[in-house]
Parts: sequence; structure tokens; C-alpha cells
Amino acid sequence: MSLSRIEQQQYAEDGFLVIRDFVPEADCDRLIARAAELVGAFDPPNDVTVFSTKEENRPRDEYFLDSGDKIRFFYEEDAFDGDGRLTVPTERAINKIGHAMHDLDSVFSAFSRTPALTTLAADLGLADPQLLQSMYIYKQPGIGGEVTCHQDATFLRTEPVSVVGFWFALEDATLSNGCLQAIPGGHRAGLKSRFVRTPDDSTEFEILDETPWPTERLIPLQVPKGTLVVLHGLLPHYSGPNRSPRSRQAYSLHVIDGGTAYAADNWLRRAADMPLRGF
Ligand code: FE2
Repeated sequence: MSLSRIEQQQYAEDGFLVIRDFVPEADCDRLIARAAELVGAFDPPNDVTVFSTKEENRPRDEYFLDSGDKIRFFYEEDAFDGDGRLTVPTERAINKIGHAMHDLDSVFSAFSRTPALTTLAADLGLADPQLLQSMYIYKQPGIGGEVTCHQDATFLRTEPVSVVGFWFALEDATLSNGCLQAIPGGHRAGLKSRFVRTPDDSTEFEILDETPWPTERLIPLQVPKGTLVVLHGLLPHYSGPNRSPRSRQAYSLHVIDGGTAYAADNWLRRAADMPLRGF
């Protein structure tokens, strides 16, 4: 498949593209089953990480910072009680799995490397697409956490900006289970902040633009299972908490252009023997 001129214009104008029926239902189910296997085989470490994009200047967190070339598991914040004990079974407590499933797991690698995606990436202008980051996102029923408004280029920086997000709905995503929301055209306003890894392996946000997000301009992207949402790296997007009884499982893949310069102070690093690969 390839994008029509109208779709390319839409992407340039809005900063995102919604492509229904991109993934056959059986492939969605296969990914859901594989993620469940990974979680089933997961032996939780003592110091489990509660991943949150809300916290600025987070303390050093090796489990997160070392996950760029691994398959690691992160929890929903609301899965713990006041004493730090899980209140739900592990398979209901995982917020996401990340960040190199596309290289380390054969099922995720195959899903992430298809002729359709290769063509799409080329149509989007990625001359030398390199698969940088993958995340399996659960958005668990009842406790699925909010992801505050952000640009992916804050977290995955290249010069010039090249990151593109491929977000696959593996289940129906609605307002009630925390679908994506985006500010159409917001990608044209420039990068607002940089999430940097400091020399002492801590992280912090560098604010480039203090103006608050015009969140009143967010529109919900309610999409059925099998939909691919393409997100420009500068597009402001958000997803609300999931207070519904249904999960909202999604897989997201972030791709950069190998012809750009990868920022040395990006949080995500990979071992020298695990270089980035394309489709
Ligand atoms: Fe994002």
C-alpha cells in the first residue's frame, strides 16, 4: 500500500494520520497473546519501576534507563497501595513493556517489519528508517494511567527532528478506555521540551517553550481494533486514564531517520553490539 496525495497532505497539515484496517484482526490477536506470554514469564525485580511522564527531574532509575535495548516491564501507578504492594495480579498491573521488543522478540520483530510499513515509512519521507523504540501499552481496565500531553521528539531527539510514531490499536480505543487525543496541526509549533539524560545518569526536562499546551484543541482519536495511527514526532498528543472495565491494548513503534544525528543525551541508549536496524 502507499499513501494517496490527500493522505500525504493530511499528514502534513494535521501531523497525524488514521489508517483503519491496517492490521488484520488475527495479527492483533497474535500480538496480544505474545505480550501475555511475555508478562506470564516475567519475574518481577524487587525495585519495580512506576513509569510516569508526569514527574519531572525523576531520580536515577536504572531499570528504565537501561531498557532501551531490552524487554522490560513497567507498572501502572495505581496498581500499588500506599505501602507499595500490588493490589491486582501482575497481568493486570503492567502499564507497558519496552523498549526493544522489535529486535529481541521474533513475533514483535515480524509485526514491526512488514512490506506495508516499509512502504508507508518511505511515503512519510523516512529515507533511511531505523527502528528505535517499541512499547506494548496495556492501559489496564480501571487503573490505566493518564499520559500527559507531550511530543515524542521530546523523548527521542534527532537533529533535525525525524521521529515518527506508529501506534497500532490492538483493541478498540474509545474515550472511555483512554484513546489517543491529538492537537491537529500542533506539530508546526516546534519542540517544547527536551528530556535529557544527565552525565550522572539521571534525567531532566529542559523547557524550551513555557507556554502551556492548548489542550482545549485536543481531539479524541476513537479508532477500532486494527487501526494504525501515524504520529509526527512534534505532534502534541495525550491519552486519558482508563476508568472503564475494558483494557485498551496498543503497540507503538518509533522510527527515526538514520541520516539524522541522534542526540548523545537521549535517555535511550543501545549496546554497541545491538545497533539499530531498519525494516
Ligand atoms: Fe507519545
